[in-house]
Amino acid sequence: DRYDLLVVGSANADLVIGVERRPAPGETVLGSDLAVHPGGKGANQAVAAARLGARTALLARVGDDDHGRLLLESQRTAGVDTDGVLVGGAPTGVALITVDPSGDNSIVVSPGANGRLTPEDVRAAAPLLAAARVVSVQLEIPLETVAETARRLPAGARLVLNPSPPAPLPAEVLAACDPLVVNEHEARFILGEGVGGAPQDWAPALLALGPRSVVITLGADGALVADSRADSLDHLVGPRVGAVDTTGAGDAFTAALAWRLGRGDDLREAAAFAVRVGAAAVTSQGAQASFPTLDEVDAL
Ligand code: RIB
Ligand code: NA
Repeated sequence: DRYDLLVVGSANADLVIGVERRPAPGETVLGSDLAVHPGGKGANQAVAAARLGARTALLARVGDDDHGRLLLESQRTAGVDTDGVLVGGAPTGVALITVDPSGDNSIVVSPGANGRLTPEDVRAAAPLLAAARVVSVQLEIPLETVAETARRLPAGARLVLNPSPPAPLPAEVLAACDPLVVNEHEARFILGEGVGGAPQDWAPALLALGPRSVVITLGADGALVADSRADSLDHLVGPRVGAVDTTGAGDAFTAALAWRLGRGDDLREAAAFAVRVGAAAVTSQGAQASFPTLDEVDAL
């Protein structure tokens, strides 16, 4: 395989303002200077994997504008193959992000060109798909594009899906996931807001929806992994770190997980590594700028 990982997903310009607290409806607050960073869940995952040493390609769409050029530049600098990054059709996607003193963020995404990444674009990228060991998708691109990616998965390749932001998923997509990667919020959405119990109780219900394996991320508390083949549930915990900015930490986690699964790790081993990568990613500002190299993960 030419690529360890193909990411099919979004690329956004992240417009980030630090705030003491978020404004209530109708309220105005002053924040920090504006920072503009390359982001988007797909682009973030591609950079995170490449920085760890994975041979990575990105299938995405950006606008023919400064934000699009910023994103292409950050992918190339990280060593991501950008032959699959299409240009034009709409302005580059934008994420409006506020980060509070605890490092938590709130994000509004305007999809822009991400919304124009079509099933036809996936079909036209058949050579990229055929060359990938693992394919990772999220939900900042049209659902039919995600579904087409799942349908076109080459034999023997693995699909990793982080359904973020959450949306109802067709059964055929759920059945293709190995694993489905969700945080608590996404798990609740999928199981129905009325779901009771704690995340520890949710794996069987998530597996019953079709994925062969499930990962539930717990932020600073690590991740739960459940594999239908092994009939197992494991809790992996990362190192304790001070959170500066959690933006993109989930993307770094998922990329690290996907890469290690493609290299033959079992789900538990891959998740143990991924929680360390996720921890490293919260210790500095921004999404992509905070993603660690392998040496930095080892040093944690
Ligand atoms: O997961 C973090 C990402 O979500 C940000 O980079 C932003 O672009 C949004 O897509
Ligand atoms: Na960060």
